[in-house]
Formats: sequence, structure tokens, C-alpha cells
Amino acid sequence: MPPPSRSDLAHSGTLEELYGKLDKVGMGPGWNKPTPSLWAAPRKTLVPAHWKYELARDALDAAGRLINTALAERRNLILFNPVEGNTYGTVRTLVAAYQMIMPGEWARAHRHTPNALRLILDAEPGTYTEVDGVNIAMEPGDVLLTPNWSTHGHGNCSKACAYWLDFLDVPLVQLLEPMFFETAEGEKEPGTANNPSQAPVRATKDSPLVFTLKDTMSRLGEAKPEPSGAFGTQIELGHTALATTALYMMRFQLGVRTAPYRTTANNIYAVVRGEGVSTVDGERFEWRRGDVIAAPAWRPHFHEATGDAILFRVTDEPVMRRFGWWRQEVAAQ
Ligand SMILES: [Fe+2]
Repeated sequence: MPPPSRSDLAHSGTLEELYGKLDKVGMGPGWNKPTPSLWAAPRKTLVPAHWKYELARDALDAAGRLINTALAERRNLILFNPVEGNTYGTVRTLVAAYQMIMPGEWARAHRHTPNALRLILDAEPGTYTEVDGVNIAMEPGDVLLTPNWSTHGHGNCSKACAYWLDFLDVPLVQLLEPMFFETAEGEKEPGTANNPSQAPVRATKDSPLVFTLKDTMSRLGEAKPEPSGAFGTQIELGHTALATTALYMMRFQLGVRTAPYRTTANNIYAVVRGEGVSTVDGERFEWRRGDVIAAPAWRPHFHEATGDAILFRVTDEPVMRRFGWWRQEVAAQ
């Protein structure tokens, strides 16, 4: 049947008849939308969630027996937000993943428009990320950036498996659609990272792309508690670290409970050291080193440490600020 003509539309006798004809020309009545397009405040779409490093390690060790980096590109476990229908994003704009690379492996170099960063959890000297031709050493507690379109691959010349957490703005790039990805040319063979006949890979930490745990500890030692009470003692890594993503290290003293905080920005927390509890919109998560907590937008949350603890906060705050959508509220203690 041909689509309705101007005359057909003009002579619609009832609203139902008009709706039927409009549907055929790719229009819909704004006064009769199937779902609302505006609402009073951010909705609870994605949920608070917690992932345990110890479980991920066991699973990655199994994956180490079952798949190599030549086949996997990256041997990683996606921390998808456990809301029905979602298989990827940890929060709306960001995805986190645990990754492992075995001794002697090389996870081949590639580049992509999504920004990425990683928090190193366990790695022995000899583990490194090559970024645009420079080898950067990876040590536990370090944060390493691979911004939009930087070429990066990971190597492990140590004798131990290396584990870290990746954070990327892939869900945001998927939504906005400027996605580009390519593998690097002149790729080295997988497994050459630990060729015993080769000299050990030289790696540096003298790079604006790495924030070392040593520097973090020294800065936290000099910083004063953040006045709102929502963040403990907090420092920012870079300003901003990446165009879409801001990074903070937060330190909590024993027994301190932070002020309940909610923001339009999405937050992912990763435990750098210590143990404690985060309560996100009423859900209580007991965490330890390497664990990850998701606090989606506008979910009030607070933290308590049961010892000296450091949380790494990864947030899309720069996106919200840039477009005038950033709001936050800190409840009185
Ligand atoms: Fe990558």
C-alpha cells in the first residue's frame, strides 16, 4: 500500500485514523507518546552493584588455561551492570573490566576512539603497557591512561600473572557513535614479551600518562579532608585526566562515615587498599582490595572504612559539567 498522501492525512476523520496514517510516514503525535520523554528527576535505570576481585581472579586464572591473548585480543571480564537486558556497561557511560596477562604474553597493540585507563591490582616488575611506542611500567596502585586514539598494548616479562582493572568510556562512544578501532601495523608476535633470549623490556614511569601509587600516597599525606565530608581526603589525578572521565583517590580514616552524596555524574569505585563498606541507595556492599562498586547517577551513597582505606573513583563528571548537567547534593551528617 502506498504511504498516505497529503489529502489522506488532511481528511483523517478520527484521531485513531490520523495516528495510523502518521505512523506510515514516520511521525508520531507528541501529545500521545507511548512513553514520556521528560521526567522530574533522574530515573533509577541502572542499579547499585558490587564485584569481587577474588572471584574475578579465579575466573581469569581459568581463562588463562583456556584462551590466549592471540585469540582473546584482551583476556578480560566485563563488569556489566546487572539490570535486565544489559550485557555491557557498568554505569550508563562507563565500563569496567578485570584483565589478566600471563608471563610471557603480549596483548597486541591497538587503538580506538574510546578513552581508557587502568588501575593496576597485582603485577610484578616486568609488566608494562606500551603507549605510542613508550613502555610504561605497571605496578600495583598505579593508574595508567591510554587516551582516545593512543596506540597501546600490554606485555608481561615477569614470572607472575598480572591483574588490573580497565575503565573505558565505550558506552558513551557507542551512544554518540564516533567509534573507530584498529589494530596496530607491524605487530610483534604474541608471546615475545618474555623471550628469555631477549634483554628485559625497559619501561619507564616518567610519563604524563601514569599516576603512581607513590605520588598518590605522598599527595594524600599532604591533603586535608575534603570539607563537604562526602569524600574523605580526596585528590584528583590530572585535571581532568581524560576528556570524558575524571579520576580521584579518596582516603578514609578508620570509623569515619562519609556524608551521603548523590550526583548526576556516574561513579565507579575501586578499592586500592583496605576494607570497608559502601551503601548505595540502601544497598550495603562490604568490600576489600580490588573490589568494584557501581554508584549510578543520582543514587545517594556513602562509605565507611574498617581500616585505613583508599578508594579510586572514576566518574563521567567532565561530561556532565561540560554540558551544564552536573548537580550534586551532600546530606548533612
Ligand atoms: Fe584498548
